[in-house]
Amino acid sequence: MARKIAAGNWKMNGTRAALAEVEALVNAHPAPRVGVILCPPATLICAMKAIAGPIAVGGQDCHAEPSGAHTGDISAQQLCDAGASYVILGHSERRADHAETDPQVEAKAQAAWAAGLQAVICIGETETERDAGTTLAVIGEQLSASVPEGATGANTIIAYEPVWAIGTGRTPTLAQIAEVHDFLRAELAERFGADQATEFSLLYGGSVKPSNAAEIFQVANVDGALVGGASLKAADFGPIIAALESI
Ligand code: PGA
Repeated sequence: MARKIAAGNWKMNGTRAALAEVEALVNAHPAPRVGVILCPPATLICAMKAIAGPIAVGGQDCHAEPSGAHTGDISAQQLCDAGASYVILGHSERRADHAETDPQVEAKAQAAWAAGLQAVICIGETETERDAGTTLAVIGEQLSASVPEGATGANTIIAYEPVWAIGTGRTPTLAQIAEVHDFLRAELAERFGADQATEFSLLYGGSVKPSNAAEIFQVANVDGALVGGASLKAADFGPIIAALESI
């Protein structure tokens, strides 16, 4: 069975003052019954890890090389050394802002595994692609080209994040989420075998909030969420964790 996971992506938000939200979250959820991950800016990983208790900490990107002349980049080993155990890879903002390609995401995932990190690989269609009826084709291509051979439910989490739903307050219908998540499970079964496919946590991401989390978590093949804006405040992320616990 896939692990249930509530993951938060702080993006380029937060300074040390924001760690008070993590303290509040840990106080409210000292022993969560689902996996909880927070991915802060790299500057906060070390300090967050020190106070995160049962909450795992992750990075938001890594370089494919373990070290070298890559100014401004950060390696998977460095994330691990700072206290991370996960890393988000191929987020649509990385793909858009830094022109990241599927092969680059694949190489980063291999680097993450080599450093002992679990990869949270993000895929998702744009609104134009959805309107053109190519959602499943786009998702299928991203999945096959971004997820390396050797992926298992233990080293990789897949996050379906429709680009048009990220930070917009718009979410797909539950039927649209179900269609993509069923497709992802089937594609993983075809590639890695039916038994292994059930081990992958498939997260939905894009405008998840306390008011819609419970209904999204009831969709078949949704094993949790990757949450942006609503992961910044304990008062928002806490109820999302609770909704996942109650499934
Ligand atoms: P959002 O972001 O929850 O703010 O829409 C989700 C994400 O980008 O992971």
